Amino acid sequence: MSQITEIAPDIFKITTFISEVNIQFNQFLVKDEEPLLYHTGMKGLFPTVNEAVARLIDPTTLRWIGFSHFEADECGALREWQRIAPDATAICSFVSKMVSVDDVVAERPARALEDGEVLVTGKFRFKFLQTPHVPHAWDAGHLFEENSGTLLCSDLFHQNGEVEAITNSDIVSRFKEMLIEYQEGPFANYLPYTTKTEKILGRLADLKPKTIAPMHGSTYVGDGESAILDLAQAMKDVLAGSV
Ligand SMILES: [Fe+2]
Ligand SMILES: [Fe+2]
Repeated sequence: MSQITEIAPDIFKITTFISEVNIQFNQFLVKDEEPLLYHTGMKGLFPTVNEAVARLIDPTTLRWIGFSHFEADECGALREWQRIAPDATAICSFVSKMVSVDDVVAERPARALEDGEVLVTGKFRFKFLQTPHVPHAWDAGHLFEENSGTLLCSDLFHQNGEVEAITNSDIVSRFKEMLIEYQEGPFANYLPYTTKTEKILGRLADLKPKTIAPMHGSTYVGDGESAILDLAQAMKDVLAGSV
């Protein structure tokens, strides 16, 4: 069964730990006039995540389904969600919609968000930032909820293991450990370090998030600006120049 944690008022994290890969997969359910789910999880996770969402809202009332980039844990179960929620529309970058999502996983066309565009779901305001290759993939983007200061940050701040749901302590060192570990195994080069990485991370830091909500691992509550700048340094240390 998945674990539910309220990480900010009416923003809920749904966590499932998969021991075979030693990774938690988190989805985020936002309760609002127009409910939003961020990350669908893989198809295989759909029954357990659906059961968790049903503890929070009527899943058939979902209105928006967001994700960072085209990948199974981000949007693999999009079609399953859209089949039970007739008004649920996917929101993603233009590239995501055009090159993959509409053809491969969407029951109906996605809505492409422009860089800087704000989606209002009721009391919440989600700003979309186009962030190519951050964390990875050409089509990557991020959603930042402006009123609560919550950054839904996908694979940034990825931490392995069965870690606590939410923390005020540093999570960058665990992220750095994961990067080093992955560089030595089959998941090497998980995240690229490009000529634009530092600038894009600087833009995310400028949002000064109060809550940082990764897909894998603990949510961090604290000085998000410093955390992102520390993460940028960790990525540079481990990834810049690696083959
Ligand atoms: Fe990813
Ligand atoms: Fe992921």
